Amino acid sequence: MSLIGRKALVVGGSTGIGRAIAEAWSQAGMEVTVLSRSQPAKQGNLRWMAVDLTDDTLAHAALVEASREPLHAVCFAAVHYGDRRSFFSETPVSEWRQQLEVNLNGLWLTLNATLPALRQTRPGMFLNVSSEVVYNGGPGRSGYAATKAACASLIHSVSQEENPEEVQFVSVLPAGMVDSAGIRRRRPADFDYSSYMRPESFASIAVELVSGRDRIRNGESLIVHADGSWQSIQDKQPESQSDRSRL
Ligand SMILES: NC(=O)c1ccc[n+]([C@@H]2O[C@H](COP(=O)([O-])OP(=O)(O)OC[C@H]3O[C@@H](n4cnc5c(N)ncnc54)[C@H](OP(=O)(O)O)[C@@H]3O)[C@@H](O)[C@H]2O)c1
Repeated sequence: MSLIGRKALVVGGSTGIGRAIAEAWSQAGMEVTVLSRSQPAKQGNLRWMAVDLTDDTLAHAALVEASREPLHAVCFAAVHYGDRRSFFSETPVSEWRQQLEVNLNGLWLTLNATLPALRQTRPGMFLNVSSEVVYNGGPGRSGYAATKAACASLIHSVSQEENPEEVQFVSVLPAGMVDSAGIRRRRPADFDYSSYMRPESFASIAVELVSGRDRIRNGESLIVHADGSWQSIQDKQPESQSDRSRL
């Protein structure tokens, strides 16, 4: 399937995994709009719309505006991790609310605004960037784990309301930790990232998903490895990235 000129949105595409997916789709010929608070560095062919997902009204208006034309693909990769991993009893309610608003409400707003434009391309692809924490949980990650698990449940429910000939849903999650802007904000300056995956590991699966999806079923969750290969979580449970030493 030719991707030239097909439209895509990446919510949370200014950095990290979302940025890598936006770049991959753009290099495959798609017209990609990134929605985030800050403008992507070295923006190249990417379009950009400013969105702060913590502002329901403005965020929804921007998402609707970005979805005026039929969309071939939408990726939701926005995330609020917080400054550091912290135990539940040390986490302020403001931090919890920020995670709910960006991670979960942001997904809700994105689905609500973009599904009509995705349905028009029969089928549009909704790509959710998920996490092993959905399956594992772990200390110091209660807000992140709860919101990511709720995202998986939201996608699972909504996907069953949609006609798969109109919209398909796939989630991707990394096999290990990924070196991204959000993760770097939580690590010391001299941290060694040599064991971390690169966001670019998501490039080939992102293009495969929008090019024709013979090998991948609607509703699947795929673990993506550093070399770009992937496997379904039906075949392998993802490994926990929870580690008390990171607290
Ligand atoms: N990195 C990992 O090790 C890892 C592991 C498992 C799963 N994941 C998942 O991968 C996805 C991407 O993570 P990442 O580490 O690659 O992230 P990242 O580099 O921190 O990127 C996060 C994105 O979210 C956007 N964002 C944050 N707050 C926002 C807000 N209020 N409104 C709009 N946009 C907002 C950021 O843009 P602005 O700051 O410009 O707004 C940025 O584009 C997430 O779903 C995460 O759960 C990551």
